[in-house]
Amino acid sequence: MKDNYAKLFEPFTFNSGAKIENRFLMAPMTTASSFENGMITTDELMYYKRRSGGVGAVITACAHVREDGKFKSSPSISDDKFIPSLAKLATEIKETGSQAILQIFHVGRMEPSSGLRGLQPVSASAIPAERPNAEVPRALESSEVEDIIKQFGEATRRAIKAGFDGVEIHGANTYLIQQFFSPHSNQRDDYWGGTLKKRMNFPIEVVRSVTDAVKKYADRPFITGYRLSPEELEEPGITLQDTLSLLKELKVYPLDYFHISLGNIFQSSLRNNENEDPVLKMIQDEVGDDIPIIGVGNIITPDDAVAAMDELGIPLIALGRELIIEPDWVEKVSSGNIETIHKVIEENNYENLAIPDAMWEYVKERPGWLPIV
Ligand SMILES: Cc1cc2nc3c(=O)[nH]c(=O)nc-3n(C[C@H](O)[C@H](O)[C@H](O)COP(=O)(O)O)c2cc1C
Repeated sequence: MKDNYAKLFEPFTFNSGAKIENRFLMAPMTTASSFENGMITTDELMYYKRRSGGVGAVITACAHVREDGKFKSSPSISDDKFIPSLAKLATEIKETGSQAILQIFHVGRMEPSSGLRGLQPVSASAIPAERPNAEVPRALESSEVEDIIKQFGEATRRAIKAGFDGVEIHGANTYLIQQFFSPHSNQRDDYWGGTLKKRMNFPIEVVRSVTDAVKKYADRPFITGYRLSPEELEEPGITLQDTLSLLKELKVYPLDYFHISLGNIFQSSLRNNENEDPVLKMIQDEVGDDIPIIGVGNIITPDDAVAAMDELGIPLIALGRELIIEPDWVEKVSSGNIETIHKVIEENNYENLAIPDAMWEYVKERPGWLPIV
């Protein structure tokens, strides 16, 4: 192994006391493969088993905290009856030595009624997403907003009971938490919207609900992370300045990391072409060492990971698509077999990758997501 890779394999201890063996986490990736009722399938267990062990922690695909917040085939954590099914997933990951972190979410306006058993999608306001055929969501009543916040805490209790080592609050990628923070989708004039300060109330209350549940139920060091997308292209949309303000508010809570969702870890602002500084560097400078940052986005080689740590000052790296393509990526880097790392998937030779059929179909329907040759 090259000398400068040693830092990638240094153990890391979170604020909660939980420890991971190296600086890599598997990024959360929807497998589109849970049973229709939200239970975990054997296909999913095999997919995670194939990718666990090398990375310090696996962050799972997003699990919905309420039935009106699901993807068509996302895992459910909306009721205690899902605990035994989720426990199988936690065990499968933990048995390999990786920590198991469950991502928890509500989809908001981003799933059509056809995926919600006919229910109208819900959001902060009755404003459709800017994409073709987006349905107009129903604005949530304030009592429903309060219930969803409570359900994030309930989901955390269930994740602890199922044996997970942590949860990641999914505040990124345009789903409900982001919809409340966004001036595009949140045009409420009550406690939950209207000004930047009020748009922060939903994310803050979700964090409070989750961290309270951890304090109440966790009998071991338990990782609590928060994922966000720093900017939106919509007008109006979330600006980097908005995000820096939100991070400032959130960092007083007992969080273990912020996970910044970017397509390219080194990218500069989407909204301000005049500023060429990497967004992640600006975020790292704002957050400082109080709460560690996970960077993600197009990390393909160990040199990419070293450059991200050196140039951006971040301590942790998540790998997404490259771990679908090359489940043994971390092991190959640590054992010095870098030249054998795969960077594309061969259409006719993917059986040993344990990709569920439904996930294979899901990624193939989205050209450009994976380099399939
Ligand atoms: C198939 C697929 C499914 C994804 N599902 C999720 C998800 O459930 N939750 C999430 O926060 N991000 C999700 N993402 C985004 C990834 O976590 C990651 O941020 C993105 O792929 C960029 O990292 P990469 O270049 O290493 O793949 C998904 C990405 C892919 C390719």
